[in-house]
Amino acid sequence: MFITLEGIEGSGKSTLIKNLNNYLLDLDIDVLFTREPGATITGKNIRNLLLSPNTDLSSEAELLLIMADRVEHIKNIIAPNLNLNKLVISDRYIDSTIAYQGGGRGIKIKLIESLIKNLKMPIPDLTFLIDINVEIGLKRAKDRAELDRFEKEEINFHKRVRDAYLKIAKKDPERVIRINGNQEEESVFNDVKHYLEIKLAKR
Ligand code: TYD
Repeated sequence: MFITLEGIEGSGKSTLIKNLNNYLLDLDIDVLFTREPGATITGKNIRNLLLSPNTDLSSEAELLLIMADRVEHIKNIIAPNLNLNKLVISDRYIDSTIAYQGGGRGIKIKLIESLIKNLKMPIPDLTFLIDINVEIGLKRAKDRAELDRFEKEEINFHKRVRDAYLKIAKKDPERVIRINGNQEEESVFNDVKHYLEIKLAKR
């Protein structure tokens, strides 16, 4: 089974992943956590390029670098582990591209969707969108560490990213579940656990 976690900066995905890891280990479920960009060796180089505030990139080149990272990620990590029947959980995946490069940068969603389709990228079985107020998310990101190239974008960029995420959840409610990320971390985890248990029971 393939599950992805999505959300804007500071939405609390890292805390959620820690909680999920403990929970799934207790259940003795064979799980692999991975993330984008930068899960493979080549991907790490791409990630450095993408996140460095010194990188000057056109939106289209940014999109293609992210897709290159993803192709490597699928080939070397996602597909082999799904074939071993593992539960694969990725911190960010295709919906990040629709939200950031589509919503944020303004690249046509149709182009992104056609790349996803033609490159035969596996569609997740379940996606959790941790939805948080943009100001709160950005403040958390700012308090955490030095800002990367995306975090440095103006607030309206992040608002467009969030709106695009919400559109995806509306369009594809069977796959994408919106979780209220403005709650306490325990409540966020409990909400996710609720949907996860339903999905795991059907496995
Ligand atoms: P990272 O620090 O891993 O994310 P987070 O802020 O969740 O800890 O940074 C990854 C950045 O890459 C994040 O700002 C979003 C961006 N990104 C895209 O713009 N498009 C994509 O398709 C992916 C996977 C990430």
